[in-house]
Amino acid sequence: MKQKKTPLSTPPVAPPPPERMPKVYVTRTIEFNAAHRLFNPKFSEEMNTRVYGKCANKYGHGHNYQLEITLGGTVDPETGYLFDLKELKKILEEEVTARFDHRHLNHDVPELEGLVPTTETLAVLIWDILEERIAAIDNREISLQAVKLHETGKNSVSYLGE
Ligand code: NI
Repeated sequence: MKQKKTPLSTPPVAPPPPERMPKVYVTRTIEFNAAHRLFNPKFSEEMNTRVYGKCANKYGHGHNYQLEITLGGTVDPETGYLFDLKELKKILEEEVTARFDHRHLNHDVPELEGLVPTTETLAVLIWDILEERIAAIDNREISLQAVKLHETGKNSVSYLGE
């Protein structure tokens, strides 16, 4: 015969709800102007023209680049921010504007030496520069999520660090 269960005198205390840690993504957009020539010295002149078209013209040409930088992480409960955008603005001025704005990418940027300065190459370089800088600034879970570089209004390259 089953023993009759006696009800507990007090209901069990429910555990507190877990603290909500929403993950958000914040994007800042900046612009810079730079010149480049798409030319691979390993290719013949004819091959360069075939691959790069007008972009291989001898003295280069300019672009008004638009760069979108996306950070991701949890919201700081004290400030309500993911990250202080004034700080991000300063980092982008130091690391991107100072390095690329009004430069000739084939000649003025040591990090691009020996590379064909396509938008793809530039997006990956910008990622590498910023990822290191952003990883160093804060001990909260903030990280670089995406670099999107628009070369023209129609063409852009995204790099997500893979
Ligand atoms: Ni171009």
